[in-house]
Amino acid sequence: MDKLIISGPAKLRGEVTISASKNASLPILTATLLSTTPVTFKSLPKLRDVSTLFKLLKNLGATINSDDQNELTTINTTPISSLEATYDLVKTMRASFLVMGPLLARYGKAKVSLPGGCAIGARAIDIHLEALTKMGAKINLQGGYVEATLEHGPKRLQGNEIYLSFPSVGATENLMMAATLAHGTTVIKNAAQEPEIADLGEFLNRMGAKVQGAGSAEVIIEGQESLLFSGSPYVVIPDRIESATYLIAGVMTNSEITIHNINAKHLDAVIATLKDMGAKLEIDYDKKIIKTLLHQGLHGTHVATAPYPGFPTDVQAQLMALTTIAQTPSVITEHIFENRFMHVPELNRMGANIVLKGNSAFIDGQSTLKSAPVMCTDLRASAALVLAALAAEGQSEVCRIYHLDRGYEKIDQKLQTLNVDITRVPGDN
Ligand code: UD1
Repeated sequence: MDKLIISGPAKLRGEVTISASKNASLPILTATLLSTTPVTFKSLPKLRDVSTLFKLLKNLGATINSDDQNELTTINTTPISSLEATYDLVKTMRASFLVMGPLLARYGKAKVSLPGGCAIGARAIDIHLEALTKMGAKINLQGGYVEATLEHGPKRLQGNEIYLSFPSVGATENLMMAATLAHGTTVIKNAAQEPEIADLGEFLNRMGAKVQGAGSAEVIIEGQESLLFSGSPYVVIPDRIESATYLIAGVMTNSEITIHNINAKHLDAVIATLKDMGAKLEIDYDKKIIKTLLHQGLHGTHVATAPYPGFPTDVQAQLMALTTIAQTPSVITEHIFENRFMHVPELNRMGANIVLKGNSAFIDGQSTLKSAPVMCTDLRASAALVLAALAAEGQSEVCRIYHLDRGYEKIDQKLQTLNVDITRVPGDN
């Protein structure tokens, strides 16, 4: 597998542009299964997870055409020839499970492999299944697959009032998509409020759906007979996790960089934490630009991850990399995933002093990070190691960067434009 060689300590300068959001693109791409007309997108992110979803849609019978010069992608999901998402694709990316809601809503039937666990935790789907059952789906778990049908009664899902026991991002998305073609009105209470959910709502409405409140704790969906996409190509929101990662890169190396296509409104918790630590940021909300400015040293922080608008679990690892060099200790508590600390031993190998107790990490701070060969274990842990390598003295080898390519578009090239001495060494994949 490819690896990155990064020379540190780096002093960043220049400008970088944030790509479209991975976590918004994936559900929106599955939502194309609801449209009876082709859907065109502008500037989808070029990521491994997006390619995996393309593969899945093609397996179902969709056609996908790209016009690279104009950054356009057109997806036609009519007609679909298969209603089955197989294990080999779902296992590599949990978001594949999001085809369940649209397939069931449009075709009355879907068979999707159970996503199983992944490195950061068990990642159950009980909330998805319970909610779909309340809308009239009959769920059968067999041979590692979830088979959902509308065998009994009418051939459409039925709108219902559904309270989610936890504001699961994926369950909210699956349910919103399922409800767009259901009979009657669906009300999702305790819905996830992430900006990616608001973007999905926006996209569904572009197809003629009637979704209100997406991005708040209560989403109301009035089911329609059919959906069709029309108008100009859809542009997905900027990636707030990639944004946070570059912000931390600027702050961690005490550099002045300009980040474009960054929506600061989606980053309240991250920006507040960085400012509390002593970071200096110049924010232009309207132009979607943030500049990191020079600071006089950083203090530690106490942060606990939480559903949006709380501090994002997807930025926990990157923040931890930053806290290792703060002048005072920090405590970071993880509330969303039970096993999301795999970056800790690797950061310690680079000279950090982090002790884990339960779901909290106690970070000493004041570490002088040193280069080391380190191993990527999951997407955001990999980003944390790249950040640590930027600040570390010497040449670090960040191995197994397969995960980074799932979620960071051209990370090596973007860092090169920010004056980082970084090289990708190709390996076997
Ligand atoms: C999405 C994001 C991921 C982010 C996460 C939390 C995408 C493609 N991925 O993942 O990057 O880290 O939100 O912000 O958008 N859970 C259950 N039962 C369920 C569903 C979830 O117990 O039916 C648990 C999970 O195991 C996990 C927690 O709830 O511990 C959060 O999961 P969820 O919000 O569903 O995250 P994802 O949609 O998988």
